[in-house]
Amino acid sequence: MERVVTDWDEYHRRVRVSQRLLWTVWRAYANLLRGISFPGPIKVIELGCGTGYHTLQMTKLYPVAKVTLVDFNASVLKDTEKRLACLKCEKEFWLRDLSSLEPDEKYDIVHSQGLLEHYTPDERKRLICLHRDLLTPNGIAVILVPTPSLPYRFWRGLLEKLHLWIYPDETAISKAEFTQELESSGLEILKMQGCHLMEVGAVCKRRVSPE
Ligand SMILES: C[S@@+](CC[C@H](N)C(=O)[O-])C[C@H]1O[C@@H](n2cnc3c(N)ncnc32)[C@H](O)[C@@H]1O
Repeated sequence: MERVVTDWDEYHRRVRVSQRLLWTVWRAYANLLRGISFPGPIKVIELGCGTGYHTLQMTKLYPVAKVTLVDFNASVLKDTEKRLACLKCEKEFWLRDLSSLEPDEKYDIVHSQGLLEHYTPDERKRLICLHRDLLTPNGIAVILVPTPSLPYRFWRGLLEKLHLWIYPDETAISKAEFTQELESSGLEILKMQGCHLMEVGAVCKRRVSPE
């Protein structure tokens, strides 16, 4: 069956008005980041940044030297650049497809939310490896994905019935699958928790292979 991909222009038209959703997701990030600190100013990259809201919030939590935001949607990236204009640190906005991103620089926090679930398991693995390859030796990856909890299935089922579901390629990922995908991609899970009933989030670092 042909895979129908999410129309990101349509998505961004809606999320622009949903500050409440962004705030809810940020609370989940903040819980995941609780207790994590860095010795000096950090570099942050967000993959599939959308609004860039969570990167912006991170700059209130940590001293930040540089933020890099990557998205292949030109109009959302333009808005994100405006939203982050207030930041005094170094900023980069890359209009790029993650599938062709070849990392050379390393980051203390590599994060994404609402990205992996739009891809097949093989593509997800490549994206998780991209998170991993962008990490400094002590860096952390923070990844949030929807999980097939009862509230998720109820909410999705309702929106599908009402023809309001706009993510045809979205697959909710169970905690067990997510764990397996992260670990088999060379990441060690430091923390994993359910977030606001609909998502599961993980904080990971690169696994150091035994000598
Ligand atoms: C659900 S949204 C992320 C929302 C974001 N966490 C926020 O808070 O606004 C997913 C984003 O990933 C972007 N995206 C999806 N696949 C991508 C790819 N292969 N390369 C670059 N960006 C991608 C989409 O354009 C969209 O902006």
